[in-house]
Amino acid sequence: MTQPKKLFIKTYGCQMNVYDSERMAEAMGGQGYVQTDSPDDADMILLNTCHIREKAAEKVYSELGRYKGLKAERPDLKIGVAGCVAQAEGEEIMRRQPMVDLVVGPQSYHRLPELEARARGGEKALDTDFPEEDKFERLKSRPKAKRGPTAFLTVQEGCDKFCAFCVVPYTRGAEVSRPADRVLTEARDLVERGVRELTLLGQNVNAYHGHDRGLAGLIRELAKIDGLERIRFTTSHPNDMDDDLIAAHGDCDKLMPYLHLPVQAGSDRILKRMNRQHTAEQYLKLIERLRAARPDLHLSGDFIVGFPEETEADFRDTLALIEAVEYGSAFSFKYSERPGTPAAERPQVPEAEKDDRLQRLQALLTRQQRALQDAMVGREVGVLFEKTGRLPGQMVGKSDYLHAVHVAAEGVVPGDLRRVRIVESGPNSLKGVLA
Ligand code: SAH
Ligand code: SF4
Ligand code: F3S
Repeated sequence: MTQPKKLFIKTYGCQMNVYDSERMAEAMGGQGYVQTDSPDDADMILLNTCHIREKAAEKVYSELGRYKGLKAERPDLKIGVAGCVAQAEGEEIMRRQPMVDLVVGPQSYHRLPELEARARGGEKALDTDFPEEDKFERLKSRPKAKRGPTAFLTVQEGCDKFCAFCVVPYTRGAEVSRPADRVLTEARDLVERGVRELTLLGQNVNAYHGHDRGLAGLIRELAKIDGLERIRFTTSHPNDMDDDLIAAHGDCDKLMPYLHLPVQAGSDRILKRMNRQHTAEQYLKLIERLRAARPDLHLSGDFIVGFPEETEADFRDTLALIEAVEYGSAFSFKYSERPGTPAAERPQVPEAEKDDRLQRLQALLTRQQRALQDAMVGREVGVLFEKTGRLPGQMVGKSDYLHAVHVAAEGVVPGDLRRVRIVESGPNSLKGVLA
């Protein structure tokens, strides 16, 4: 019997890359590869890259540099670059770094087995097209192996919004949705394999149009699957939050009370320059409607500080918006110039100013996050257990609101969904007892 070849994948960036890496590993199973968690004994190394903020390409080159020794020792080792940096700078990478055998952009993953075969044959293989076909349908079907209780499932890709700071419309291409029947088939299959919670993914997931009633229609269909206990989705754009999706937060029990709804900034002047297509007021009204549908909804957001021409007054508008919303969690970034995007050409905010604003913003967000977490003490929540904890008999899971929860829970196994009373709030997680 021939030894299986080993594939090492390193994943950067968003959850969609995590899902893509999973699917690529599964597809490479058909080429005789099994996954390994160390590059040292790999026959192929694949970097699944992210281009969202600065130094993305530099990070890829320095990571590649670390494999020079391995490649010199074992010239048979194949090195590939996938993901958003591959899409944006694939040809340049091949030119600058001769040790790279294969480059594949995010919309061409179904061609990976063929590219691998070409690379194995000694060719340089590059594919960064935006083909019409659904890559996930063309990728080898998923194996039947048992898996953990939570899974990502990409339902939508690409973006047509063109926010002035963002590379995603260029690296992932135009918005496309996977047909609902294919998503449902994949979801049923994942549930049969042990999955209890699905997170539906898309760069703009609520622009989903693979079901005639949009993302809400898809969620309502998924909710009928026996054994699927929880549904989440990310990332949403405020302008694609339609009435039915808002209503679903109130009437669909399996849809969890946690919503990631990035606003980026709180100043209308900046929102306009960002090309976000909505005002701060419209965002706050939307939150009000969501909370009317689901009063205990935890909100999460993304923020950019130091966008070109952002003044101290603009920045204070962002702080005021955060005060008004009270976020359960959030991600915040200093604006980073991305070549080819409109904002990169505009007058930039000094770095020291960005640092200062980021610190102040994060202090406020951390305070809010902690306050909402502390308010969980004494309450009873659902917890889906995922794995054993560090202490004997301890299990770790996620609350409905996505908090990590530690529970002394003899007899509970991963995949169990139990009611838990929260007794303590720590820096990054909650402690509870079975209710
Ligand atoms: N589609 C999602 C976000 C995709 S990118 C949405 O519209 O919300 C994830 C986050 O990275 C963005 O929400 C934004 O906050 C941040 N981001 C994107 N481009 C950036 C840039 N040039 N500089 C700093 N942060 C950026
Ligand atoms: Fe980027 Fe804006 Fe599209 Fe989100 S909506 S992926 S931030 S262009
Ligand atoms: Fe990064 Fe591409 Fe995701 S740029 S955030 S990996 S869509």
